[in-house]
Amino acid sequence: MKQLFALWGLLLLPILGNAEPASNIAWTPEQLRFVKNADLEKGKQLAGACAGCHGEKGISQVANFPSLAGQLATYTYKQLRDYADGKRNNALMNSIATGLSEQDSANLAVWFASLTAPEYKGKKQNLDKAVVLVEKGNGKKIIPPCFTCHGSDGMGERQDIPALAGQQPDYFANTFKAYKSGERHNDVYSRMRLIAEQLSDVEIEQLAQYYYQLKR
Ligand code: HEC
Ligand code: HEC
Repeated sequence: MKQLFALWGLLLLPILGNAEPASNIAWTPEQLRFVKNADLEKGKQLAGACAGCHGEKGISQVANFPSLAGQLATYTYKQLRDYADGKRNNALMNSIATGLSEQDSANLAVWFASLTAPEYKGKKQNLDKAVVLVEKGNGKKIIPPCFTCHGSDGMGERQDIPALAGQQPDYFANTFKAYKSGERHNDVYSRMRLIAEQLSDVEIEQLAQYYYQLKR
C-alpha cells in the first residue's frame, strides 16, 4: 500500500508542479480587442513616469534596462499584468505595475508600440554561434531556430512573441539567463525556458549582441 502511495506521489508531482499557470493572461478575442482599442493619448501621458528608466521615446540608454519602443502592444500588456500579478518578479517593476489598472497597462502598451523601435547604427560583428542558433537552431537538442518565432526581422510575431531587434544586450542576456535558471517563468508553455536551459552563457551573450546589432 505504501508503495502504491509513493507511486501516486511521483505521478502527481509533475501535475502539481505545473498547476500554477505561467500567466493569468489568455489571448481570447475579447482580451485582444481590449488591448487593440486602448487609448494611445492616455498612454502617452502615463509614460512620463517610465522615461527616467526606459528612455524619453521608449529607447533605453541604460544597458540593463529594456527598450519598449516598437514592441508588440500585446506583449508589453502581458508583461505589465504579469508583474502586477507576481507572475514575473522584479521588485521595481512589481511595485510600478501594481499601481497600474488593466486599462492603464493597455494604454501604455499601445503608446510604446506606436514609437519607433531602436536601431543599431554601428558596424556588425561576426557572431557565428548566434547565427547558427537564429537561422538553423539545434536539431539534436530540439531547439527550433529563433527566427521561426521571433521573425526574420526580429520584430516579433502574433500576440505574445516579442520583438528583440535593437534590444539592450545586457537586459537581453539577463532575462535569458533568468529563463535558464527558472527565475523568470512567465513564458506560457515554457517556450523560452526549454530553450534557455540548453544554452551556454557564451551562446546567450552572442545572441544578445546579434539581436542588438540586427539590421531590419
Ligand atoms: C526605476 C526604473 C524603472 C521605471 C521608472 C520603470 N521601469 Fe520598467 N523596467 C525596469 C527594469 C530594470 C526592467 C527589467 C526588469 C526585469 O528584468 O524583469 C523593466 C522592465 C519592464 C518591462 C518588461 C520589458 C520586456 O521586454 O519584457 C516593461 C513592459 C516595463 N518595464 C514597462 C514600464 C512602464 C510602462 C513604466 C512606467 C509606468 C516603467 N516600466 C517604469 C525599470 C523601470
Ligand atoms: C517556440 C517559439 C519561440 C522560439 C523558437 C524562441 N522564442 Fe524567444 N520568446 C518566445 C515567447 C512566446 C516569448 C515571450 C514569453 C513571455 O511572455 O515571457 C519569448 C521571449 C524571449 C525573450 C525575452 C524578451 C524580452 O523583451 O524580455 C528573449 C530575449 C528571447 N525570447 C530570445 C530568443 C532567442 C535568442 C531564441 C533562439 C535561441 C528564441 N527566443 C527562440 C517564443 C520563442
